[in-house]
Amino acid sequence: MTSPFPSSPFPSFRFGGDYNPEQWDPSVWDDDVRLMTAAGVTTATVGVFSWAKLEPEPGRFEFGWLDTVIEKLHAAGIRVLLATATASPPAWMAARHPETLPVDERGVRLGFGSRQQYSPHSRVYREFAERLVRELAGRYGRHPAVEAWHANNEYGCHVSESFDEESVSAFRAWLEAKYGTIEALNRAWGTYFWSQAYASFDEVDAPRAAPTFRNPTQQLDWKRFNSDGILELFLMEKAVLAELSPGVPVTTNFMGFFGELDYWKWAERLDFVSDDEYPDPADPRAHVHLAATRDLMRSLGGGKPWLLMEQSPSAVNWRPRNLPKPPGANRLHGLQAVARGADGVLHFQWRQAEAGAEKFHAAMVPHAGPDSRVHREVQALGAELAELSQGPVLGASVDAQAAILWDWDTLWALRQDANPARIDYLATVMHWYGALLRRGVVVDFARPGARLDGYGAVFVPALHVAAPDELDALAAYAEAGGQLVVGYQTGILDRDLHAYLGGYLGGAGSALQRTLGLRVEEFAPLPASALAGDEGPGSEASVVGELAGTATEWQEFTVVDDAEVLARFDDGAAAGEAAITRRPAGGRGAAWYVATQPGAELFDALADRVLTDAEIETPFAAPVVGVETVVRGGVRFVLNHTPKPAEVEVLGRTVTVPAYGVITL
Ligand code: GLA
Repeated sequence: MTSPFPSSPFPSFRFGGDYNPEQWDPSVWDDDVRLMTAAGVTTATVGVFSWAKLEPEPGRFEFGWLDTVIEKLHAAGIRVLLATATASPPAWMAARHPETLPVDERGVRLGFGSRQQYSPHSRVYREFAERLVRELAGRYGRHPAVEAWHANNEYGCHVSESFDEESVSAFRAWLEAKYGTIEALNRAWGTYFWSQAYASFDEVDAPRAAPTFRNPTQQLDWKRFNSDGILELFLMEKAVLAELSPGVPVTTNFMGFFGELDYWKWAERLDFVSDDEYPDPADPRAHVHLAATRDLMRSLGGGKPWLLMEQSPSAVNWRPRNLPKPPGANRLHGLQAVARGADGVLHFQWRQAEAGAEKFHAAMVPHAGPDSRVHREVQALGAELAELSQGPVLGASVDAQAAILWDWDTLWALRQDANPARIDYLATVMHWYGALLRRGVVVDFARPGARLDGYGAVFVPALHVAAPDELDALAAYAEAGGQLVVGYQTGILDRDLHAYLGGYLGGAGSALQRTLGLRVEEFAPLPASALAGDEGPGSEASVVGELAGTATEWQEFTVVDDAEVLARFDDGAAAGEAAITRRPAGGRGAAWYVATQPGAELFDALADRVLTDAEIETPFAAPVVGVETVVRGGVRFVLNHTPKPAEVEVLGRTVTVPAYGVITL
């Protein structure tokens, strides 16, 4: 990723949110600016959904209202994150160019009247979008109020694929560019199975609704194709902005571990990474996932500061039951982002909508008005971030001594049907992440194949899909002295989704098999999975040995040639088989294999041994649930995500953190 600035992209912590003045009578605008100033708002994201207002008829642009809004903000010293407004095309596009509307896998064309109703591969959409961006960039590209560009909005959020003819021909062209010959595609897709062989690219279709299981590699390529195609939309906008608004950074808002776009490929094209997160106040474990998304954003940007583009000041409107954020929680979430590398905390949205589908979504100025709990908390957070801007945190990096591998191909492959079991990859990764969070260990997420040499320990849960050289790199990491901890369902398929033969973890004689000292012969999933959402608590088995406790989710038949067996399954289909192994590797390195999902206590015991061997400092001497700690810019943040005050020992010092509170040391 290229950052336009050496450390922070911003002069102070950004604070503010989406501002949709076009939804209001202009008489409200002065009040908005006055309240924003009082609340310490530095930044307003303007125009995200204003295409219909900006271009009421094709080619007729109305910028007067936006000129006024930008001038008012500018006069008050509020910077603008200007949206390119391409996220929701106007009614005229659907009416005059119905071919721009997306088509689902059953061939149903989606209608107008919500948002994001465009096929990502529609040429007409692309032409109109490009023209709109050109107009906006030409007009505001050098305006001093414009701090950065916000391209589109949450690309792929509602529509990440379309099965219209234009998209399918683009898919064929993408496949032809990838494979060159139809024979190569047939080999990669394994099409001699079920008589699927193609004679030419013209015969290939998108993976539409079909009688039964669709070709796995076709499905995976379709995901990759759509991720790439939507990235083309971003790059198209970025090219126009680079031309007409030189030097102004361009971002778009990610959605954490979003399941449709390969953000590793995307992030390198953004000037800085930004993210939207909406933790569920009803979920007591939401902070684990939330902390992980912060670490992912920092990792996607190569460690550089990122921007929290959206969070809700309180409830959302899109869950079946929308609980408010408890007092303090919005500050807590904002400061969690800051502690984990964000240089700004923005919200959706500034003023709570009066009408439309989001009228029950909380906002910085709620329906109740500024004299309200939510707005008072907003004001306090604005003031706090302004003060924090004076200190060493802004622009500072966050040190992570461990890494977890994360891979979108694996996510896509494990979400397909016809697998050994339903395996929720994200939940599996979160389970591992949670064990490190409980000890206060900060992790980066790493892409398979990335350099790992700076990390004391590297964790590889369920890396189902990996190329041989990516698996070799893991072995090399352990042989070079690292603590490599590999979880079940790793190294099963190559990137064409062909099984590794001669034992999983990369196939007969692979470097990873040698480094681990074992190969996996057969899977034995436990009957019910809690992680993949089966009814009930999920099955359990016991493991016994040097490490003992509860095993969940998984067992395996493993051939251990040359590793110490630290735990064996005591019951279940694979009773007697190895559950956790360790083999010394180069220097002080070791390669650990975990053939199950250890229960929390067993995980903690395992993590303890690995972290000790890796000489990674654990700020919490014993596992702590619901409280996290992280250092940024020399400031140690301790964050309590529970409804009770928490007394915790951090590096030998006992501190009390209020309910939903944050303290800094
Ligand atoms: C997303 C969108 C916003 C808004 C919020 C509501 O993040 O980007 O426009 O719809 O969700 O939570």
